[in-house]
Amino acid sequence: MAIIRIQKMSPKHISSVVELDRLCFGGLWSAQGYQRELESPNSDLLILVISQNAEDSNKKVFFKSSNFQSQTNYSHQSIIGIGCLWTILEEAHITILGIHPQYQRLSFGKLLLYTLMRSAWEKGLERATLEVATSNISALSLYYKFGFQDVGRRRRYYQQTGEDALILWRGHLDEPEFEETLSEWHREVITRMDGYELSWEELFLEDKNLYNTRHTCT
Ligand SMILES: CC(C)(COP(=O)(O)OP(=O)(O)OC[C@H]1O[C@@H](n2cnc3c(N)ncnc32)[C@H](O)[C@@H]1OP(=O)(O)O)[C@@H](O)C(=O)NCCC(=O)NCCS
Repeated sequence: MAIIRIQKMSPKHISSVVELDRLCFGGLWSAQGYQRELESPNSDLLILVISQNAEDSNKKVFFKSSNFQSQTNYSHQSIIGIGCLWTILEEAHITILGIHPQYQRLSFGKLLLYTLMRSAWEKGLERATLEVATSNISALSLYYKFGFQDVGRRRRYYQQTGEDALILWRGHLDEPEFEETLSEWHREVITRMDGYELSWEELFLEDKNLYNTRHTCT
């Protein structure tokens, strides 16, 4: 069975993440950019790692990271997702969310966005925001499912294409009902990860029993 781990990024992951960034965004941040983010106290960088045995032909690993050292006896480990959250006053700014092209549409984006939103909630932040290209239907659909709403537009925000960006916000993270919303999202991602063993690696302060143990989702 493949294991999916969501964990903090560290310097040893930089070259693999830059490669993933190139595949997801065409090269948004450089190695120096990621290094700066890792050093910033306001930035949380998360990676999604898949580990599996070579014999496991059920779900193939398509993307083998170049410098990611195996910590288990799993023979293949790949970084297939990256997410970044900046804490600015009481706001969570989601600056990066990317899933390897060959792993898209498998609910990993949902899993990572849920994790970022849960992190924002644990930090006591009040709302979340991000920018997304007007043509990025898959990302928009994902964000709307998490309650984000359009509040504005930045004209010609993307230099390469000249495309506008929509500004999305998701409020009410600090209200009591949001905890129940998080539980619903959690149930959904667990269900979607059927067939994987899922692990949040010491990411969350609360609900240690829930999050710091392995979930077997079969
Ligand atoms: C946007 C992105 C992160 C989504 O990740 P993903 O793992 O493919 O998405 P998921 O499988 O978790 O899908 C979650 C929801 O997104 C929407 N979605 C995802 N892919 C979609 C597609 N190709 N078409 C339409 N909707 C799509 C659906 O609403 C889906 O919900 P559903 O499964 O209940 O139908 C991924 O496509 C990606 O990395 N894209 C390139 C980088 C990028 O554009 N990032 C966002 C920058 S703001």
